[in-house]
Amino acid sequence: MDKFLIKGPCKVNGTVNISGSKNAALPILASTILFDKPVILENLPRVKDIDTMLSLLESLGSKIVLSKNKRTVKITKTKKKNFVASYSSVKTMRAGVLVLGPMIAKHHKSITSFPGGCVLNGNSGRPINYHLNTLKKLGMQYEIKKGYIFAKTKAKLKGNFIKFPKISVGATENLIMAACLAKGKTILKNCAIEPEIKDLTNFLRSAGAKIKWVGKRTCEIIGVNNLKETKYSIMGDRIETGTFCILAALTKGNLLIKNFKPKLIQTELSFLKKVGASVKTFKNEIQIKGPKQIKSINNISTKEYPGFPTDLQAQFMVLLCKANGISKITEKIFQSRFIHVMELQRLGAKINIKNNTATIEGNTEFKGAELMSSDLRASAALVLAAISAKGKSIVSRVYHCDRGYEKFEDKLKRIGVNIKRISS
Ligand code: EPZ
Repeated sequence: MDKFLIKGPCKVNGTVNISGSKNAALPILASTILFDKPVILENLPRVKDIDTMLSLLESLGSKIVLSKNKRTVKITKTKKKNFVASYSSVKTMRAGVLVLGPMIAKHHKSITSFPGGCVLNGNSGRPINYHLNTLKKLGMQYEIKKGYIFAKTKAKLKGNFIKFPKISVGATENLIMAACLAKGKTILKNCAIEPEIKDLTNFLRSAGAKIKWVGKRTCEIIGVNNLKETKYSIMGDRIETGTFCILAALTKGNLLIKNFKPKLIQTELSFLKKVGASVKTFKNEIQIKGPKQIKSINNISTKEYPGFPTDLQAQFMVLLCKANGISKITEKIFQSRFIHVMELQRLGAKINIKNNTATIEGNTEFKGAELMSSDLRASAALVLAAISAKGKSIVSRVYHCDRGYEKFEDKLKRIGVNIKRISS
């Protein structure tokens, strides 16, 4: 398992090119199951989860041809048909469950393993009941046996009126994809509206899907018989952008962040301004300068988009360890997404957790230590903390980072971070 060796403290300066969005690319790739015609996708991020999804699609009968730089993929259908998304293909990736909706819509059957991915919800795991209960309303029948969902439908799925009991990114995506080929009209209420979901619907619309967003959280879909050949460029990664913005503020650095539309992260930028960072936005770029003194904030709560994203909570907590007072972050999306706290404490962080609220004492001088990553965003937070710590840190299990950050250490090196990958 690879490790990062980081010698801090470092101040970052320069330009960062943001890669394609992992969380937009994953559902878009899954949705190619709905097609008979070829699909070309550009701006694919080169991260592990994408490789996993491409292998899964290949195992289900798609032909995958990647360009030389692996950023463009052409996906065509072969005659081979397999309806089993095996445990080995989805055990490391939660997004594996996103093939269920498209498979049931296109092939009327699917055997999908329960997915793996980051452990973010403590003992409650990461349930998929909203996916299953709502697909059932479109006509899917299912049974759970030996860790697999055996799903089928007698004929085409049938459009319906569905209100999600709670906002869920993955369930919204699964339902939108399934409804594209269902008979008649589907109305989805209380949808997640993350920019990555809008990217999925823009992609599907480019292929002739009839999808309309009505009001804030309602999506109307009229099923079509098939989708047309299309070429689409995936949006930039929102969480990678946020992570580099936080890094600039943390190290009192100065970064020009390219290839991302700032209007999609207004909430995050407003919190960065609150801590004192100077933020200038352009159409597709952000210039961010860290403040001399980071100010504390005592009321951040993670929330569904357009609220503050849970996927940046760990990174922002690192920043608040350096603020001039006491800060508070409440995690409202996942019950126990605080595993990074224990590791930050090794560096000297003073953080106290009560229920789902973390109280963070500011003015911490981090001192280098050995750290272990526990999930994707936690691993990014540890890297950020190590960059701002005095001395040498080793961050282990960076395979978590590799799942979602493209060439993280190369991008960091280019802006002045003393970081080295130690391969084992
Ligand atoms: C997506 O996960 C993202 N993953 C996550 O990013 C992100 O943290 C999360 O949305 C929240 O923004 C991808 O896009 C691939 P949810 P997802 O369904 O779809 C509960 C990263 O680091 N819930 O919106 O799994 C659930 O337990 C990853 O890139 C149910 O109870 O999230 C959670 O508390 C990590 N039953 C809440 O809803 C269900 O059937 C929101 O989860 C589904 C969800």
